[in-house]
Amino acid sequence: MLGKKKFIIFFLYIINLVFYNLRIVYIISSGTGTWICEMAADYQKSEYIGIDILKLHPNIKPFNVQFIQHDILKGLPFEDNSFDYVHAQMLIFDITASDWENIVYKECCRVLKPGGWLEITDLDTAWYNPGPLMSQIRASVHDKFRSIGINLLIIKHHRDLMLSMPTLTLVQQEERVYPLGSWAGKIGILAGSYIKDSCKNFLLWAHPKKNTEKTLNELSAEFEMYKSYCITFRLYAKKT
Ligand SMILES: C[S@@+](CC[C@H](N)C(=O)[O-])C[C@H]1O[C@@H](n2cnc3c(N)ncnc32)[C@H](O)[C@@H]1O
Repeated sequence: MLGKKKFIIFFLYIINLVFYNLRIVYIISSGTGTWICEMAADYQKSEYIGIDILKLHPNIKPFNVQFIQHDILKGLPFEDNSFDYVHAQMLIFDITASDWENIVYKECCRVLKPGGWLEITDLDTAWYNPGPLMSQIRASVHDKFRSIGINLLIIKHHRDLMLSMPTLTLVQQEERVYPLGSWAGKIGILAGSYIKDSCKNFLLWAHPKKNTEKTLNELSAEFEMYKSYCITFRLYAKKT
């Protein structure tokens, strides 16, 4: 019940932000800029700033979007209390647990205005109902990332990280099943192909001698046989 109330408060705030007020929305790790450009085109009364360490964004963009190339681990290049909403998505492969705690969360809280909201969404790479090959690839992916200081299960700690920030309140976490394979219809086909592409990149990086095509076909067959799935997490909290 409390979760539903927090969602309604958050939802009404975002609706107000995008429909009625000229306010600034700040997106960390904007990547290719698809999400931010679509939001900016649909909700033109807000101003959007995307930040990414790489210059992946398009040159043609809506008038209310600005992209900045910057390493967020060097801090966010803005004054305190500047933004109404801060959003970060899919940083799981890039930020270590200690950087989340000591830099990213602190900086997000610093640049948010009092009353503004922070939202983090990411995948859980635990992978559920795996077949034998999927279990093997998962262990290898986790080991490889652990060796470079990245904990791929960090999403499960984000709630505690948010709760540990003294200026965040109304912390809420939602989870959605992300089914892999055609057994789950169109969404499963799309999600399965996304995970397959990610595994392909991983295999080319970590196991270049493996027959990648054959491995990926076996992986697809396992998705169907075991009804495999992932979970996506969405967390949001309000700055006091
Ligand atoms: C998996 S992509 C996600 C992109 C986008 N958020 C999305 O959901 O499509 C991760 C992004 O984080 C960016 N990134 C990684 N480390 C970063 C850092 N230290 N500072 C800023 N951006 C970073 C990468 O360049 C990449 O565009």
